[in-house]
Amino acid sequence: MPDRIIYLNGDFLPASAASVSVMDRGFLFGDGVYEVIPVFGGRLLRIDEHLRRLQNSLDRVSMSNPKSTDEWKAAMEQLLVQNPGEDRGLYLQITRGAADYRDLTPPPGLRPTVFMMVMQLKPVDPRQLEAGIDAITVDDFRWHACDIKSISLVANVMMRIQAGNAAVADAIMVRDGRATEGTASNVFIVKNGVLATPPKSRHLLPGITRDLVIELALSSGIDCEERDIGADELDTADEIWLTSSTREIAPVVRLDGRAVGDGRAGAVWKRMIGIYQQFKQELRNG
Ligand code: PDD
Repeated sequence: MPDRIIYLNGDFLPASAASVSVMDRGFLFGDGVYEVIPVFGGRLLRIDEHLRRLQNSLDRVSMSNPKSTDEWKAAMEQLLVQNPGEDRGLYLQITRGAADYRDLTPPPGLRPTVFMMVMQLKPVDPRQLEAGIDAITVDDFRWHACDIKSISLVANVMMRIQAGNAAVADAIMVRDGRATEGTASNVFIVKNGVLATPPKSRHLLPGITRDLVIELALSSGIDCEERDIGADELDTADEIWLTSSTREIAPVVRLDGRAVGDGRAGAVWKRMIGIYQQFKQELRNG
């Protein structure tokens, strides 16, 4: 694999030449936030929304934003030029920086560590997506600050390991009898042609793809509700989807060993994925 060019603290350099202090609070405490932004035909999808969510994450953890919106966009454009390709993903991470001592209390005057890299997103082939994925439900034992896109992801990693042990691709989390989200995605159900997804709260990440799917559904005449989804509704749903920047819209065809609907990607998903592909194509064409 060629040595990609990454962005680190104002410099563009080969990944192999980049280094971060072992005292970095991201390394020691997971003290940082991140974003993943899809890029289609060189265009960043919903960049303003991603930067707004980044600002929210930074505000929630009391870190100041190291760049203005225009500075972010300029640095991202430069990084994309240095890593040419078609559909890609831009990963951005900001940690609170490196201190002299390992102490939870951040000392004043820390300089944040700002890192960006371009990821070669596996092109999402709608035919492959249509095969669907198997998932399990798991207890959502995370904290009450899941709206922060925090780099502390060990709980999500544990759930992915649990899914792997059950020989399925992913897990849907349930808190207090309600579905919250996937390990790295938001969850939707379809019942009698109506789409539903849990409302935004501190128990889930406000996904940019989630908002886009709601918007595209409503503008295409598909009813969509933002409401609590009981865990029992997962058992009786006609369709279940997981949405994210990397998964796009993935149909879950088996949950906890049982078929979802008729065990195949559903009719509403087929319509929605067509609408989503068209949206991406329009973005590519500018
Ligand atoms: N994850 N919920 C969680 C817990 C997530 O980690 C993600 C995205 C989402 C969906 O957000 P979006 O639609 O903005 O991608 C929901 C990214 C892709 C990741 O961690 O790789």
